Amino acid sequence: FHINMDDKDTGKGPYPYYMLKEVNEQPNIMRKLTTLYLDAKGKPKIDHKLLDKMNQADRLYIIGAGTSYHAGLVGKNLFEKLVHIPTEVHVSSEFAYADPILSKHPFFIFLTQSGETADSRVVLTNVNKMHYPSLTITNVDHSTLSREADYTLLLHAGPEVSVASTKAYTSQIAVEAVLAKALGEVKGRQIAVDFNLRHQLSLVATGMQSVIDQHAKINQMAKKYFVKSYNAFYLGRGTDFYVALEAALKLKEISYIQAEGFASGELKHGPIALIQKNTPVVGIITQKKTAALSRSNLEETASRGAKTFTIVRRALAKPGDSFILPDVDEMLTPLLSVIPAQLLAYYTSLNKGLNVDQPRNLAKSVTVE
Ligand code: G6P
Repeated sequence: FHINMDDKDTGKGPYPYYMLKEVNEQPNIMRKLTTLYLDAKGKPKIDHKLLDKMNQADRLYIIGAGTSYHAGLVGKNLFEKLVHIPTEVHVSSEFAYADPILSKHPFFIFLTQSGETADSRVVLTNVNKMHYPSLTITNVDHSTLSREADYTLLLHAGPEVSVASTKAYTSQIAVEAVLAKALGEVKGRQIAVDFNLRHQLSLVATGMQSVIDQHAKINQMAKKYFVKSYNAFYLGRGTDFYVALEAALKLKEISYIQAEGFASGELKHGPIALIQKNTPVVGIITQKKTAALSRSNLEETASRGAKTFTIVRRALAKPGDSFILPDVDEMLTPLLSVIPAQLLAYYTSLNKGLNVDQPRNLAKSVTVE
């Protein structure tokens, strides 16, 4: 039995970088998760013992680092809407030393692509000492956090090699959606029963592909807005704000641009002072309730000289919008709005001549605190 050490490179196939390969894999991963986690009638296939345990909880605690933390934020919205259970999301390194006041019956969900992140493991070790129930959602079977938690759900995304996480984020959100639907159904929530996740995930897969197919346009946008910029901002409200955080993280990780995600409404309370002539500001707009507000916040930056552009769900689009996303249920729009952001980061890094897969100072898996 011979292991060819160059396999890592041939593993890129026709792609110049793993990141681009992994971005491109996302539509198929959505289809794969659909068949693995939902039956032909759309019923979630989740271990009933896990659901029973979760059903006893009065509060969910989602713990993660980096991109996994951002996937947790999107999960909060899914659990609160579909299950109607209070859900807290915490950065693992903070939660570990925060002396949190827990609810009476907490249930812990660990999100970790690698299953090896030291910061998250510290929290799990404490959770186990206190005998609270836990689930790890991870891409790596038999990883440390998988072994040490009571339950595991796998992401089935295939190995993620690029340091900048992409397919792990979207598969984490998809698995959270399955879990939220399953638990909501256990609780007899009509909204969970009615939520046609099977159909929605097929719309997501097709929608992701149509965004990816517009890569040439996104490359042009990266050149126009980001490549020569020193800083850049993403804005959004609610779920769109959570994606803004992830979009900014992608950009800063691989292009070294000072990028931040802001809650649109917070802009006027400080960040707008950063806007100068030609500062790029991206508005993510997928939520009906807050679309008009986000638009006017974006307008305020434009009137102070910002170069603005929009990533908008089709149903909310207006003439002049820059990038239109196909329509999916508002709970799942992060699965689509993150794709142009991933590709914008990719092409910015590429056009700057940087090493997309191996950004300076970063590691794929951080096993020290
Ligand atoms: C590192 C990686 C990030 C990742 C984070 C959490 O910082 O560079 O891409 O999001 O760790 O990793 P995990 O494996 O726990 O999801």
